[in-house]
Amino acid sequence: MIQVLFVCLGNICRSPMAEAVFQQQVKEAGLTRKIAVDSAGTGRWHVGEQAHRGTRDVLRRHGIPYQGRARQVMPSDLQQADYVIAMDSSNVNDLLAMDRQGVLDGKLYRLLDFAPPGSPRDVPDPYYEGNFDYVYELVESSSRKLLDHIRAERNL
Ligand code: 4NP
Repeated sequence: MIQVLFVCLGNICRSPMAEAVFQQQVKEAGLTRKIAVDSAGTGRWHVGEQAHRGTRDVLRRHGIPYQGRARQVMPSDLQQADYVIAMDSSNVNDLLAMDRQGVLDGKLYRLLDFAPPGSPRDVPDPYYEGNFDYVYELVESSSRKLLDHIRAERNL
């Protein structure tokens, strides 16, 4: 099983959205038995909470289910994942600071590494800015490219 882990700060806005959207794309591609999808946050303030209302609303409007609860990323997650997909540069820095053994070497990306040219590098945080629809568009297009990348790399 190929394991893909999306990471943001709180695990209530961006990474649950990415997890749900990517899971849906994996399902549509018929790859649920090959690719496992999860998400976590670097912070622990929201552990146990359901996704933010803005994330739940945008997912519902696009017909994408999501039942996950927030959790904090653990060192074992980084060990087990094949692709760790951070939402922004501060998530990347926080993850690298956790990774004393270098397990992230070669498997840490920003989601928008897979976005079309001209896109921002970081997924903006809708917790502060409320732009859930814009974030959805960024997440949807880049996670599709991420799936293409994984399929090419893994011959799926
Ligand atoms: P997320 O958004 O990282 O996309 O889940 C945030 C959620 C909560 C907080 C910050 C960002 N917070 O500071 O509580």
